Amino acid sequence: MPTLEWANRKAAVRAATRAPFRLLEHDPALSFGDPDNENMLIQGDNLEGAKTLMPYFAGRVKCFAIDGPYNTRSAFEHYDDNLEHSTWLSMMYPRLELMRDLLAQDGSIWVCIDDNEAHYLKVIMDEIFGRKNFVANVVWQSKDTPGNNSAEIAETHNHVFAYRKSDAFRPHLLERSEKQIANYSNPDEDPRGPWLGTPLTRVEHRDRDYYPLTNPKGREVYPPKGSSWRRPPDVMKRLASENRIWWGKSGNAEFPMEKKFLSEVKEGVVNQTWWPYEFAGSTRNASAELKKLFEGNKSFDTPKPERLLHRILNIATNPGDIVCDPFLGSGTAAAVAHKMGRRWIGIEMGDHAVTHCAPRLRKVIEGEQGGISDLVNWKGGGGFRFYRLGPAITDDAGRINPAIRFPTLAAHVWFSETHTPLTKMGKSPLLGVHKGTAVYLLYNGILGDKKSNTLTGRVLRDLPRHNGPRVIFSECTSLGDERLHRENIIFKHIPYDIKGR
Ligand SMILES: C[S@@+](CC[C@H](N)C(=O)[O-])C[C@H]1O[C@@H](n2cnc3c(N)ncnc32)[C@H](O)[C@@H]1O
Repeated sequence: MPTLEWANRKAAVRAATRAPFRLLEHDPALSFGDPDNENMLIQGDNLEGAKTLMPYFAGRVKCFAIDGPYNTRSAFEHYDDNLEHSTWLSMMYPRLELMRDLLAQDGSIWVCIDDNEAHYLKVIMDEIFGRKNFVANVVWQSKDTPGNNSAEIAETHNHVFAYRKSDAFRPHLLERSEKQIANYSNPDEDPRGPWLGTPLTRVEHRDRDYYPLTNPKGREVYPPKGSSWRRPPDVMKRLASENRIWWGKSGNAEFPMEKKFLSEVKEGVVNQTWWPYEFAGSTRNASAELKKLFEGNKSFDTPKPERLLHRILNIATNPGDIVCDPFLGSGTAAAVAHKMGRRWIGIEMGDHAVTHCAPRLRKVIEGEQGGISDLVNWKGGGGFRFYRLGPAITDDAGRINPAIRFPTLAAHVWFSETHTPLTKMGKSPLLGVHKGTAVYLLYNGILGDKKSNTLTGRVLRDLPRHNGPRVIFSECTSLGDERLHRENIIFKHIPYDIKGR
């Protein structure tokens, strides 16, 4: 498959692997609401942030809704949107790779972008997610004014690229609007209920489908010249026998209609790629939403309208699913996910994680009534935890950071052994069994005393039992190779066998 070349591509391809796993440092003063909630607002760079999430969330995120820098050559008040073209590609590439690995099999990623980088982004996304997983290029009419001040041709749209992780992705249909439902009626009081008449003629001549029909008044009719019926003779016969053909109230119409019953059509309407601003909001709406939220202060240069995110999350997620936006900006994706009952993770490196995102989400929890609140009948509730990215798990010499406690190292070790997240954490050295192999961690005196950090015969006897292969991480062992082999144990040394990157 053709790929895109740029200066430093090689380094970009290695960057995700090289990024360190870091500690997540909880800041209770900036966290808010229900302390048992699982929503995460993380301040820090999203390459290391996404890497750090891996042991906990690999394969679990249902939807990424992202709106990274567009590279518009602007210096905004809160962030700089002016990277050299190759640097921009090198920035996006490893982050998209990590997002792919965090996505669930039935998950999807939606990326807003404009014409500055869209076509380059499409090529690298094809490479990372696979061309077969491209779902759509939604064209969102982001501007609701004609743009007559533009020097040449006014750009009034943005792209939203949607990719799925695999063919397990099932987009939801769009709910039928009241206006669409009102198009269905029941003039012949059909017991199957309201229906919509769709033309049975096609503007194309096909010999097979050019044949006479007899209407209920006995008149023989043909399709207009140059066209044909939409159904072959045998199907037409069946439709007539099932009373699915409508010849008008008089029974004498020249061209028949097929009755499509509301009770039989799909639960909703298939989504289209054209999203006008009346449907998904505009950038002007987004700025107004933020101004209202912060009472005219603390504006943000490039917010997205809540309705745009509402559309995306409606198609791609269910209540309770995990939504992640690692370019959180003013916090729109998290605010919308919260109001829609989704779990969320937001990452933002700028100070606005503190000045915009945290206060915005606090207001949401208190029942803020702007944006989509009306649409989803939002009443408030829930909570979030604020984190910063702390030191790396291992230092440059490969030593474990002494601040690491058992649960953090356990999640990390489990992930590096199994490439799956550790979802249940007990107070046991047995972390779990993966494909028949048990994984143990002896660290931080998990068996009650410091001595139990060493794998000895006594410690081995005290470990929870497993009949099958065992991988045991520990600082050292007094057991020889022969004993380890006999006990079906692979011994892994802390820190040398711990991957810090
Ligand atoms: C276009 S804005 C997002 C706006 C957002 N959708 C909203 O509605 O407010 C892009 C954001 O990504 C952030 N950002 C850029 N590079 C980042 C990185 N490497 N790590 C974390 N955040 C980053 C910027 O600080 C900026 O706030």
